[in-house]
Amino acid sequence: MKSIKVGLLGLGTVGSGVVRIVEKHQNDLQQQVGSPIIIEKVLVQDRLKSRDVNVDILKLTEDPSDIINNPEIDVVVEVMGGIQPAKSYILEALANGKHIVTANKDLMALHGAEIMEKAAEMGCDVFYEASVAGGIPIIRTLIEGFSSDRLTKIMGIVNGTTNYILTKMSQEGVAYADVLKEAQELGYAEADPTSDVEGLDAARKMTILSTLGFHAHVSLNDVSVKGISQITKEDILYGKKLGYEIKLLGIAEQQDDSISITVEPTMVKTTHPLASVNGVFNAVYVHGEAVGETMFYGPGAGAMPTATSIVADLVAVVKNLKLGVNGLKSFAPTQVKKIKRDEE
Ligand code: NAP
Ligand code: HSE
Repeated sequence: MKSIKVGLLGLGTVGSGVVRIVEKHQNDLQQQVGSPIIIEKVLVQDRLKSRDVNVDILKLTEDPSDIINNPEIDVVVEVMGGIQPAKSYILEALANGKHIVTANKDLMALHGAEIMEKAAEMGCDVFYEASVAGGIPIIRTLIEGFSSDRLTKIMGIVNGTTNYILTKMSQEGVAYADVLKEAQELGYAEADPTSDVEGLDAARKMTILSTLGFHAHVSLNDVSVKGISQITKEDILYGKKLGYEIKLLGIAEQQDDSISITVEPTMVKTTHPLASVNGVFNAVYVHGEAVGETMFYGPGAGAMPTATSIVADLVAVVKNLKLGVNGLKSFAPTQVKKIKRDEE
């Protein structure tokens, strides 16, 4: 029983969660895939930094070649974040025939099609379930679960940090800056939290969801974006008096052959299910012509929920490896749809 060797790029919030799950659930994972899953090497920026996982049993390196050019490694899990050098490492690892699991929505929203093309050329898998809505398996659901339907709307709360901030401002009257700091300490926010609070992180996620759900070439520029940084406690209080909660909503709609996508703070009636999605939780509402209304709910950020999605992707890669097939690769659709822009 040959073990499956994994190279981990990054050991921050999410990487540490991956280490914990692989360690804690090793027996269950082994039963599912028929081989031990071993984290062979871990890339970090600073090997001497103190960490909240046991580094004595991990082989830390500051040299990416130890992973991406290491012939022993079967799967590379990228949880470093950012565009570069993550993109180059992933493309090089693919060129070396390694399968990829990533949580990187910045990269997948901007360069997903190029990465999937390289993966197809090399016969490798690239799975990215953790890139949208943390622990909710929404990517699998869109690719597999709704392949038979024609989706008309994908709407939801897809950023945990901003939902955490808006919830605390609404329920406890806490000031914006104080809650943002808390969300950073809890590991929910991006390295640069501007992308959370200005709506860019949600826009990247809506780009991915729309590409998959509408089978269209959607680009980040197609999303009209507004964040929550200008929302005050007074705005929230005023909304509450009128029977609304303010939520940062991503709304993607497909009508005929055009698609419109927005991310903006939205007044949601308190009776609407999205109004009671609180804290770091996310929810994605999907409407399809045949299925009607569906909704998916769960933790949208944080170490363990995000790592759950990553390790599930890892299991899927290993199962494919054993079967000698690839799967869940659909990022670039065959048919190009027109995107409706504001100026049209
Ligand atoms: P993080 O806590 O900042 O961790 C990043 C890790 O990557 C650190 O261990 C860092 O090394 C390492 N790293 C960064 N740049 C590197 C470089 N150039 N060379 C070598 N190592 C490098 O980030 P995170 O919150 O875990 O997020 C990781 C990814 O997951 C991002 O793409 C993020 O968008 C995505 N994601 C995060 C969440 C969440 O809840 N946090 C949820 C879903 C998806 P050092 O430790 O030595 O500094
Ligand atoms: N910063 C992101 C969020 C992490 O708050 O939703 C999960 O993608």
